[in-house]
Amino acid sequence: MDIAAILGAIVNEMRGIADRGMLPGYIPPLTQVDPQRFGMAVTMADGRMHVAGDADEAFSIQSISKVYALMLALETCGDPIWQRVRQEPSGTAFNSIVQLESEHGIPRNPFINAGALVIADILLTRFGAEGARARFLQFIRDRDDALPPIAFDEDMARVEYESGFRNAALANYMRTFGNIENPVDAVLKQYFLQCSVTMSCRQLAGTGRGLMRGRTAEPASRHVPTVLALMMMCGHYDGSGAFAVRVGLPGKSGVGGGILAIVPGIASIAVWSPGLNAQGNSLLGTLALEKLVRATGWSVF
Ligand code: DON
Repeated sequence: MDIAAILGAIVNEMRGIADRGMLPGYIPPLTQVDPQRFGMAVTMADGRMHVAGDADEAFSIQSISKVYALMLALETCGDPIWQRVRQEPSGTAFNSIVQLESEHGIPRNPFINAGALVIADILLTRFGAEGARARFLQFIRDRDDALPPIAFDEDMARVEYESGFRNAALANYMRTFGNIENPVDAVLKQYFLQCSVTMSCRQLAGTGRGLMRGRTAEPASRHVPTVLALMMMCGHYDGSGAFAVRVGLPGKSGVGGGILAIVPGIASIAVWSPGLNAQGNSLLGTLALEKLVRATGWSVF
């Protein structure tokens, strides 16, 4: 199978599509990104990397960071985290507050914003503010020995902090149920820093290597099946069902237009196209993954 040729054909096809979706107006710096950008990268289990389009251009990973934060929390705090966040699809928007009232401030899953705020709070309690930041970056670096330096985009984090009223509401609301332990300010700062990390498709695909390893001879964290199951069920919020039907892979999106998708035992895929669909997931990124899976037979179904 000629993965490089398949990626090249997909990139060409995507370049010609006029409807590129919407940029996320609620995060001003993300509206400055060129919607014509499109990149893809695939890391195979044997380490080979295939790239196409703007695969070396850095973008804001945003909610894809929730995968690393969850893995770090699981590996350092273990299964007790599931007392504070559940493992169920939400069927609601990524920043929705409605379920928290009737569900005692316990978010449905770690990938909606409410759940990711709880995970950020868990990391703060475990490591303190400085420690949580440093451990988070180090955890991503440790995913891939070949990863060039990655960093927080402090300006992006500050802009989100200054305008993130919905996230502030979610954190304050959960605090009233006792499900946020640290000052809301500190939780928001940690969460927005996590979201602000920038990576290219090449880097992002590389960081997914540990998640594909579950079915290879290489050792994998015992938490990998849990994380992949949650990516499949919750990684695209209220668009997760349609993503599972169309792509058939565990995936996690971000409002920066990136998606990380895992083919267990076979490949880690990153795609980036900044325009979003109605659920806040990359419009052409999803289409490109659908085409890649059709050409390769990589759907887990
Ligand atoms: O908290 C927010 O709203 C953003 N920092 C992240 C949201 C996001 O990426 C949703 N994903 N598609």
